[in-house]
This record gives sequence, structure tokens and C-alpha cells, in this order.
Amino acid sequence: MKAAVFTALNKDLEIRDDVTLGELGPKDVRVKIAASGVCHSDLSVVNGTIPAPPPCVLGHEGAGIIQEVGEAVTSVAKGDKVILSFVCACNVCKPCLRRQSYLCASNGAQAMSKNFRLGGEPLAGMTGLGTFAEELIIGEGGVVKIDDDIPLDIAALVGCGVTTGVGASINTAEIKPGSSVVVFGCGGVGISAIQGARIAGASAILAVDTMENKLEQAKHFGATHVTTPDGLDSAKLAITGGEGFDYALECIGNSKTIRATYDAARLGGTAVIVGVGRLDDMVQFSAFELFFANKTLRGSMYGSANVRTFMPELLSLWKNGKLDLESMISRRIKLEEVNDAFRAMQAGEVIRSVIDF
Ligand code: APR
Ligand code: ZN
Repeated sequence: MKAAVFTALNKDLEIRDDVTLGELGPKDVRVKIAASGVCHSDLSVVNGTIPAPPPCVLGHEGAGIIQEVGEAVTSVAKGDKVILSFVCACNVCKPCLRRQSYLCASNGAQAMSKNFRLGGEPLAGMTGLGTFAEELIIGEGGVVKIDDDIPLDIAALVGCGVTTGVGASINTAEIKPGSSVVVFGCGGVGISAIQGARIAGASAILAVDTMENKLEQAKHFGATHVTTPDGLDSAKLAITGGEGFDYALECIGNSKTIRATYDAARLGGTAVIVGVGRLDDMVQFSAFELFFANKTLRGSMYGSANVRTFMPELLSLWKNGKLDLESMISRRIKLEEVNDAFRAMQAGEVIRSVIDF
């Protein structure tokens, strides 16, 4: 089958047609991928920001239909529509039982699984998934069943960016009605965070991006104010009287914007780090300010979402017209165009490119 394989840092993905699948284990499912979003984290593997050894089938934001289930699988069946989850959500480990399935103890095992084959050798998929392939095999914990009437391109977006961004606003930041919010970065994740802030009832939502076209789009999704980074201070003054925002969310992934996010939150406010930066990109805080500013600084893994409940909730918001997912799809592409999709993302031309299989 066809798959897009990461073979070396900073090289185009190889589009191959000779990738196969390994054996279906008793607790595994085989999924035919219908659609996959192209997320910045895929690009972050290619440029080395996210460490993942090649070779590896990229793609971690997808949805499809179950073709086959192992003999011990109980929660899903052949023909079910599913969203692929890049966390395992096993429902039996301690983190899952304390309702933090995004930290599932089996995430590492899922990420290490090598369910593809290339030239007879095991081949990994990103986070254990690898949605840039026509089919994949994953443990039962890595799929979330959805209703039959959900279009799979819409569902695919929920596989990463939408859950990550909306979840960061609703689950991690716990934005309250009437509050002020600033979101740094208006890609698929930031646009989702903006929508999450709107759904949570924020009264003012400032979108910050270096690209003017992204700021125009941000308004459509609920930003009440927009600015490039150089206008941040005057926007902060105008919106909050200078004290800073109740909530600040970083949806880019580097130390400079993380620092700016912390600084944009008011005394006692909340800063949420959603973007994924490099392992060696260090952020500095003074020992005094962390105490004095009394801010809450939170990391947000997969939008702090329990995927089995949160993903269907997001689809329900979409069905009822409260979450705009259609407008997030900037381009529909074929698998062969995935390298062009990376370039379009780097040029700031798209919110999401979606591969239709
Ligand atoms: N200041 C403001 N905006 C910036 C800056 C900056 N210094 N640098 C980049 N941006 C903007 C880009 O113009 C773009 O609109 O951030 C946005 C990032 O969007 P995408 O590249 O589409 O990335 P996305 O898929 O949204 O992911 C964002 O979340 O999950 C993580 O790994 C992912 O770290 C990445 C982040
Ligand atoms: Zn992603």
C-alpha cells in the first residue's frame, strides 16, 4: 500500500507504494484511513524538533473505518467509524483511572509499536499511528468510536489539532465566561484554542500571529481582537487596561513565545503551553517572579482531554453549529502532495491541509 515515510532529517517524505502491515495482535484493530490532517507536529519530526528515529510513517491526525479486529477486542467492531488517538487511553492504568487518560501509562508502548513492514523489516508509525498510510494497525486503546453520520474528514481534524486546541482552552485553562484570553499562534491548534475560548464564553479573545492572513482568519473563528507580535503591548493595554490577560495560551512551540505567553498573563492569571518545542530550547524564569506573580503555568498534553468522552463532545458541538471545523480545511490533497502541504504550512498559507485517501 501507499505510505509517506520519514527517512532522514530535513528531507522530503518518501512516498512509497510497497509498505505492508504486520500481524494483527489479539488486542489490535486494522483501520482503513479515510482522511488525515497535516499537523505541525509531523513537520516537527522532519526538522528534528520532536525526536522520532527514522524510518517512520508520519501522520497522527486521522480517521477511518475498522476493517478487522483481534480476537480479544471488545470495545469496537468491524465497520465502526473511528478517530485515531495518539494517546492510548487504556482505561485501566492509574492515570486513566484518575481521568487523565492523556497521560496513559501505555502511551510509551503505543508509541514504540512498529506495525508497518518495509522490505520485510518492522517499520514504525508516528506515535504508533502513521495516518499517512492507506491502512494501519493499532491497539484498541488508540481508537475512539464515533457516530456513523460523522464525515471522516471532519473527524480527522479532531484527531489532533482540534482536541489539542479546544481542550487547552476548556480542560487545561478552564476558561471562565467573561474572561480575557490571548492566543499566540493561529494555525490549526491556535484556531482551535480560539474556538474553545469562544465556546467557554470569553468576552475578549486576542489572536497573535506574525502572518496577517492568519489574523484575518482568526476573526472568523472568534477572535475579537488581532495583532502581530509588535502590537501586543498596545492591544494588552486596550483590552485589559494593561494588567494582562486572565488566560494566555501558547500554540507555537518555542522558548521566546512561551516566555511572551507567561508575560502576557495577568498577576494570578493562567499561562498554558500547548506548542511542542525542542528538548534543548530552555525557557528562563527568575526565582522571584514565579513566587511573586502568583501565575498558574500549565502544560497541555492533547488538550488535557479524555479522548473517549471529549472527542464525541467536540463532534456534538460541531453538529450543533458551535464549532466550525469545515472552515479549518484550507486544502484537500492527495498523499503524494504531503511535502507540498508542509511547505504551505511553513509559508503560513493554510490552517489545515487534509489528505483524502
Ligand atoms: N509569533 C507569532 N506567531 C507565530 C510565531 C511567532 N514568533 N511563529 C510562528 N507563528 C505562527 C505561524 O504563523 C502559524 O500561523 O504560529 C502558527 C503555527 O501554526 P501551524 O504551523 O499551522 O502549527 P499547528 O499545527 O497549529 O501547531 C502549533 O502545536 O501541537 C503543536 O507541534 C505543534 O508546536 C506546534 C503547535
Ligand atoms: Zn498534531
